[in-house]
Amino acid sequence: MSSINRRNFLKSTSLAALPSLLPLAPALAAPLTNGPAAPTGAPVKFFGDGEMFSPGDYLQQLQQVQSATVIVPDRYGNGGAVEALEKQFAAITGKEKAIYMPSGTLANQLAVAVLSGGNTKVFVPDESHYFRDEADAAQSVFQKRLMPLAKGQACFTAQQLQSSIEGLPQEEVFSSGIGAVLVENPVRRADGRMVPLEEIKKISAYCRSKNIKLHLDGARIYMASAWSGVSIKEYASYFDTVYISLYKYLGASGGAILCGDKIVIDQMPHLIKIHGGNMYGNWLNAAMALHRLEGTESRLQEAIKRANTVFAALNKMKGVKVSALDNGTNIYNLTLAKEIDGKKFQETLNKQYHILMPPPNKDNQTKLSVNETLLYQDTDTIINAFKNCLS
Ligand SMILES: Cc1ncc(COP(=O)(O)O)c(C=O)c1O
Repeated sequence: MSSINRRNFLKSTSLAALPSLLPLAPALAAPLTNGPAAPTGAPVKFFGDGEMFSPGDYLQQLQQVQSATVIVPDRYGNGGAVEALEKQFAAITGKEKAIYMPSGTLANQLAVAVLSGGNTKVFVPDESHYFRDEADAAQSVFQKRLMPLAKGQACFTAQQLQSSIEGLPQEEVFSSGIGAVLVENPVRRADGRMVPLEEIKKISAYCRSKNIKLHLDGARIYMASAWSGVSIKEYASYFDTVYISLYKYLGASGGAILCGDKIVIDQMPHLIKIHGGNMYGNWLNAAMALHRLEGTESRLQEAIKRANTVFAALNKMKGVKVSALDNGTNIYNLTLAKEIDGKKFQETLNKQYHILMPPPNKDNQTKLSVNETLLYQDTDTIINAFKNCLS
């Protein structure tokens, strides 16, 4: 995969323009089999990793929670819904402790800073969010020297990591200690491709043999888990710390969770405070994530099943090809034949059938992302909508 500039990526897939494409569609009965009810009239979205609620829908969802069990607020991240969420994530990841973070960026930065202590070198995938999308925080705020590996690849291999670390004495005269290693999985800049479990095991075994700490940027780890069948707990077991996003598919308006050993997590409240991240109330995000967490894994399994049915039917339609990516998760390639007016196809799906997808590019290609909004219409309805848009 060639490296992708984030702004161009957004432009090329026109994801940035999608909110303005939201249709004025009739309210649909939108039953969800597992867990919370879908917002009334919510579209099927073949983009993104899950629900991103409008303010009105957000309030409605929280109202559902509140009517079932009164939401208990936190105070500066202590108690209430935040504490309940932290306990759940400690259990989900099998780690000693979890802590709510105002952002994934802060979770990544503080985890790596604490794991690496006074050592400066941090080995990172060249295509990672930590290396490319955190505004050089590691260098400017945390005095880390980032050592990017495997440009153009989803991740480095254990062998590449080992060669790079063991080659240092030949390359640098005055040695300094290795801080930590970071792995992102799945990889946003590689269209959600996963790092193979076997490679993670090797990277982890090597780091442990050298007493080097390992952090997982698992913002979308639920996607990797759903598509690979590897549990979140197993993924987490190979790392010292793991961060998971609360807003990419758990419905919150922001926030993150960081899990790890007590000795690491107990250092976080002070660090969050001195970096300005200690908010008075965080329950709006925590209560939403708690609410949506229930049944997430089974809803994703159902979405995968339905996507397989829908994509198999699409592949039988003339001029339509849907294909999975190698080591892919929820992002698929869609190619339309030249004769098909891709823009019109996309607009009709949106306006008449309440199905959103990113507009095809000049080669009539786009990406379809699978998420739980696929459950908002039954598979036959979705298949027929595609069919009708082609005729
Ligand atoms: C892989 C990955 N890591 C970290 C982050 C940072 O998350 P936040 O927006 O909560 O700072 C993102 C956000 O896009 C991400 O995609």
